[in-house]
Amino acid sequence: MILDIVILAAGKGTRMKSEQAKVLHFLGEKPLITHVVQVAQSLNPQTLSVVVGHQAEAVKKELPRDVNSVNQEKQLGTGHAVAEAVKVLDDDNGMLLVMFGDVPLISVMTLRKVLEGADDYAISVLTANFMKPGNLGRIIRGVSGNIEKIVEAVDASEEEKTLQEINSGIMAIRKSDLIRWLPKLKPANAQGELYLTDMIEIALDESARVRAVVSDDADEVMGINTQWDLCNAERILQRRRVEELALEGVKIADPNRLDIRGEVQVGKDCFIDVNVVLNGSVVLGDGVSIGPGSVVSDSTLAAGVKVLPHSVIDGAEIRANSSIGPFARVRIGTVIGEGAKIGNFVETKKAILGPGSKASHLAYLGDANIGANCNIGAGTVTCNYDGVEKNETKIGDGVFVGTNSTLVAPLQIDNDAFIAAGSTITSHVKESDLAVGRSKQRNIEGWVPPSKRE
Ligand code: UD1
Ligand code: CA
Repeated sequence: MILDIVILAAGKGTRMKSEQAKVLHFLGEKPLITHVVQVAQSLNPQTLSVVVGHQAEAVKKELPRDVNSVNQEKQLGTGHAVAEAVKVLDDDNGMLLVMFGDVPLISVMTLRKVLEGADDYAISVLTANFMKPGNLGRIIRGVSGNIEKIVEAVDASEEEKTLQEINSGIMAIRKSDLIRWLPKLKPANAQGELYLTDMIEIALDESARVRAVVSDDADEVMGINTQWDLCNAERILQRRRVEELALEGVKIADPNRLDIRGEVQVGKDCFIDVNVVLNGSVVLGDGVSIGPGSVVSDSTLAAGVKVLPHSVIDGAEIRANSSIGPFARVRIGTVIGEGAKIGNFVETKKAILGPGSKASHLAYLGDANIGANCNIGAGTVTCNYDGVEKNETKIGDGVFVGTNSTLVAPLQIDNDAFIAAGSTITSHVKESDLAVGRSKQRNIEGWVPPSKRE
């Protein structure tokens, strides 16, 4: 079937009560419009166009290069928007699938259901049954059960308003018919707009075949008109993703308290505790567990990694069987070696920690390359920034860095060196040396504090 797709996204979205155009609001990790564009692309249409108007430039920026944008100067209604898009189509063969930029949860399966056999009809419209149909357009069916028209809620009678079958806005229309019928639309309704929905009656007037395809899943066709709709859609999206992950074998403490804003790959026997957020591309090896309140972004956690509560990991590679947190912050460019440990209140950035090394508490390790089996004491700080440049600290294998050490970079500490607690280290420490970089303790005997002096 020859297929073109147009996505309507010119409206302001007044009911969002936001400065930002509605379709630019985020659902999961991306704007509403991106969800719709991506599902449309998966149908491989010959052309894909987006009708833009309100904040057109900002919306266009979100569109992939091979997607056309069509400007609708004034938002005169969904029928007018489609008319603007049709103007730029090259031919009148096949079907035009109309989608809405504010109906983001639609699945490719449901779209296929609308398109299957659509060739035999002038119009196939996707509908759904809603418990609370609210402001949505109602589907009016005749005695035979066939669709007769769509009535907007504002134009509906009290009786029509009780109907629960609604118009999703998603419609496949034969292009040749559409082009002929568009000029027949009249703004004879409460909003004074050109309604695409009036196409149904126009088609039936010509005895063309029209059908309503009922969606199996009402959630998929929900339109986003308010922030309340948006947060409900977010929950639906998250629940779908969490279900997918659970069915892949991940144990999830609470399906309502895990948010996935990206793509997650998982091994066997992973566990994710409550209030976890996974962002971007996250890979979890076998047996990884993520403690409550943790945020993991764009990172790979190899088999057996334990993330203890309230840890933040971003852009890192955590190798097998290491342990992170509680309360750790592992930043971009960090590589944690096998069986290593990053404990509470430790921050790392562009740090490589060799296998078996430990920084168990209260440290800042930035631009540091640390070997295997080192012990980094509490309060250790790599002074990587001299106010102009970032400098590197290089530490060999088996090094012991005593508590509260200040390592002033650029600096090199060789294998098996020992740094005395409380040291400020500014120069090269050679293999197996003890470095003491602090003033000697001095005790004053018989000292009387000022308060006790006569
Ligand atoms: C529309 C349908 C309604 C359906 C509902 C489903 C019509 C007349 N009504 O109502 O039957 O139940 O969607 O969510 O079709 N848009 C433009 N240009 C315009 C007007 C709208 O691009 O001139 C875009 C909007 O940006 C939006 C979509 O079309 O993405 C729907 O418009 P909206 O105003 O939200 O229509 P609804 O009142 O929700
Ligand atoms: Ca809408």
